Amino acid sequence: MIRHTVLFRFAETVSVEQRSAVLSELETFPGRYPGMLNWSMGENLSTRDATYSHGMSMDFATDEELLAYLHSESHEQFVRERWRPVIDHHVIVSYPYDPQASDSSATKEVTVTNQRPRGPYGMEYARIEVPDMQATIDFLQYHVGLQLEEHTEEYAYLRADIEHHAIELISAPEREDGWTVAVGYSVENEEILEQIRQRAIDAGHEILPLQERQQGLCDNGFALMDPDGLVVELFTEFQEYAEAPHVEIRPVDLVHPFLATPRYEEMLTFYMDVLGFIASDHIVGSATFLRCEDRYHHSLAIQKNDEHYVAHLCFAMKSLDHVMRMRAKALYKGAPIASDIVNHSASTSIAFYLHDTKFGPRFELCDSHRVFTPEEHETHRARKMPADPRNIDVWRPASDDWGRF
Ligand SMILES: [Fe+2]
Repeated sequence: MIRHTVLFRFAETVSVEQRSAVLSELETFPGRYPGMLNWSMGENLSTRDATYSHGMSMDFATDEELLAYLHSESHEQFVRERWRPVIDHHVIVSYPYDPQASDSSATKEVTVTNQRPRGPYGMEYARIEVPDMQATIDFLQYHVGLQLEEHTEEYAYLRADIEHHAIELISAPEREDGWTVAVGYSVENEEILEQIRQRAIDAGHEILPLQERQQGLCDNGFALMDPDGLVVELFTEFQEYAEAPHVEIRPVDLVHPFLATPRYEEMLTFYMDVLGFIASDHIVGSATFLRCEDRYHHSLAIQKNDEHYVAHLCFAMKSLDHVMRMRAKALYKGAPIASDIVNHSASTSIAFYLHDTKFGPRFELCDSHRVFTPEEHETHRARKMPADPRNIDVWRPASDDWGRF
């Protein structure tokens, strides 16, 4: 636990009204910052030292929680606009302490109720079985911008940025179409990995070993099967390269898979209650966007459907310009654009989708993706949006414009 204390005094010229406005705003802080525990503030009663007129103290479970508060936009704006103009001087001391060693049972209770279950950190890769390995590699290099790193007759790894790979291809000549068999998510540390493993065991899920090659590419991990049979691999310390590929126009991150499922409710329970994903937004009765600890608006989307398949994989490019350059390449080569430029309302991203069933799911190339602030990550209330095309693409003019998706 970190105790954060601030001693302060107002400038002499500051009116009583201004002082009470600032003190009243400070009193709203515990409600605004859920990571803030045991907040208190009062006037200095000391007769030995009256240097500061007021003191304020609060606790945070971790250093990160404290920094998230200090660096949040709302806090920085408060300091800049309302605090600095009226405060003559202040001192800050933050120190760690062990609440277990304290005899305050109230402190312990508050700490426990603020610990939410942690989920995976973020998406790292998808594993796709494809009938024509070379054609798929060519497609992913030219049209998605990935870099080939390792290639045997059996498998191939392609990467987007420094992470070891974003796509693993498995040669499956018996297949007619590409089929996504697994997705990989990194986890921040061993402790969270173990917590997820325990939740999965408690929920009656079978713990599977990681794919053998993947075992050599991370520290520790395990796999689970989701209700549709898609393998979800979870691991710590995914290996990475020292440098990103020296290719200017390429994706910088694999952001999410979009899963179509006939077991919508079951899938939500699995990904949220067991794995620890958090709902960011709902298209009521149709889709849910879920986020991980990397705070992308969604690192997973689940859509109610008649059948199960991985509908698309989303890659973020560096800019809209790069998305448009990739689109130009697709048009030039006659590559199938399954859904042309859309402006997603939920993730505030502009994207288009490429699809050739031989190579697996659609590939969404977007310009950026909304990342929640640490504060929003803890407090965002998932919106319930009606199933209206304008809630998927804000450039749709009317509620019945469902074509072209
Ligand atoms: Fe997407």
